[in-house]
Amino acid sequence: MVTGGAGFIGSNFVLDWIAETGGTVLNLDKLTYAGNVGNLKSLQGDSRHIFVQGDIGDGELVRRLLAEHRPRAIVNFAAESHVDRSIHGPADFVQTNVVGTFSLLDETYRYWQGLKPEERERFRFLHVSTDEVYGSLGPEDPAFCETTPYAPNSPYAASKAASDHLVRAYHHTYGLPTVTTNCSNNYGPYQFPEKLIPLMILNALAGKPLPIYGDGLNVRDWLYVRDHCEGIRLALTKGRLGETYNIGGRSERSNIDVVRSVCRILDELRPRTGAGYASLISFVKDRPGHDRRYAINCGKIERELGWLAGKDFDAGLRETVEWYLANPEWVENVRSGNYQRWVELNYTTRESL
Ligand SMILES: NC(=O)c1ccc[n+]([C@@H]2O[C@H](COP(=O)([O-])OP(=O)(O)OC[C@H]3O[C@@H](n4cnc5c(N)ncnc54)[C@H](O)[C@@H]3O)[C@@H](O)[C@H]2O)c1
Repeated sequence: MVTGGAGFIGSNFVLDWIAETGGTVLNLDKLTYAGNVGNLKSLQGDSRHIFVQGDIGDGELVRRLLAEHRPRAIVNFAAESHVDRSIHGPADFVQTNVVGTFSLLDETYRYWQGLKPEERERFRFLHVSTDEVYGSLGPEDPAFCETTPYAPNSPYAASKAASDHLVRAYHHTYGLPTVTTNCSNNYGPYQFPEKLIPLMILNALAGKPLPIYGDGLNVRDWLYVRDHCEGIRLALTKGRLGETYNIGGRSERSNIDVVRSVCRILDELRPRTGAGYASLISFVKDRPGHDRRYAINCGKIERELGWLAGKDFDAGLRETVEWYLANPEWVENVRSGNYQRWVELNYTTRESL
């Protein structure tokens, strides 16, 4: 069972999981503005994907789904995930990321207790989290490792930190077999265009300004989404119980460098008349409390589970730009808001509630 599987990373995970393992996935997603079942269009009519629109915080629904489908693992992607939105409206973040995760854990614990001993032994709850729980680094600080103290700075990061602690507590107190992953910034296909890379690609193509916070020197560690999905699959199957694993791309880049790279790739693939795309770059007032630098030490998952980020940042960025250029229908559906009607218009394998 996957939660939040219609979002950016969740949908990539569902697609990869079914392609790699052939297994069935029960996908529980509330379909907030960030959920887009159109991401899973290629699975339409495929009985290995069962989609349910619902909230992880709806205990009754989760209880019924667990009893009916008897999953052998839960991977929890469901979250409010956009830092800017958490600054303007933190309540939804506390509701889904904290209260929702708590409710999901509690229902999972009851379900797990009722399993046969060999099923209990095999069961896993994998919680997908972020490097933002560790706070901000100075230019010379060592990268975050799993023992770095939590110091969340935004309401988003604080709500994810709280959910991580609840997952930890359900393992230590009740023995629930959990694994947590903390990942750096993802990029790749199906990312909602409020996030940096797709926003810049789509604004550039529309000839709109490319807004960059502050001086553009905030640094993030970028990871191709499918490498993240592989890390999650490994943590799920081989991760030690109660442990956390950091996942990162070893690709630190400042925001301005990322945007300039996007512009260079677009100049080549879709040249515009007149000045190049970089002429659209415009610096805007910084985000309040903007963390300066994130960097992940992913040595533990590399050593213990044999994971390696396969995609080099420059190659992954080019492929991502190519994907947005090759999928104008997806872009148009997101831009027009039609994606929110996708379920009612197209989705036939949705469970009736
Ligand atoms: N995007 C990143 O760079 C990044 C990096 C590290 C960790 N993460 C974590 O990975 C997870 C997925 O991130 P994403 O970028 O795919 O997010 P996203 O915003 O694209 O997708 C979130 C999905 O969760 C669903 N959802 C929200 N509230 C829900 C609820 N109450 N019940 C059920 N479904 C709900 C949404 O409809 C959406 O489909 C999040 O937990 C996020 O914190 C993201």
